[in-house]
Amino acid sequence: MGSSCQKNGADEVLETLKHELKEEGLHKHVHITKTHCNHLCKQSPIVMVYPDGIWYEEMTPKLAKKLVQEHIRKGKPLKKHILRTIPY
Ligand code: FES
Repeated sequence: MGSSCQKNGADEVLETLKHELKEEGLHKHVHITKTHCNHLCKQSPIVMVYPDGIWYEEMTPKLAKKLVQEHIRKGKPLKKHILRTIPY
């Protein structure tokens, strides 16, 4: 949620994640934490999913919806959009 992420749509991504988690009935099982800049501004917005340790780049509301449905719901990360993996 640093300035570059926000400039590139982080607020909309966050709202989509919250909405989709609720729609999927997962909001009680997934905790969302906003961070400051993670120094990957050119690839922003960044979304990290832990404990999987997967960092996504250039997240959009459309991708955020897919992230919840595929990664969170089914355990299938969106491979094409992974920036890096840093296991917990
Ligand atoms: S503002 Fe998001 S990575 Fe820098």
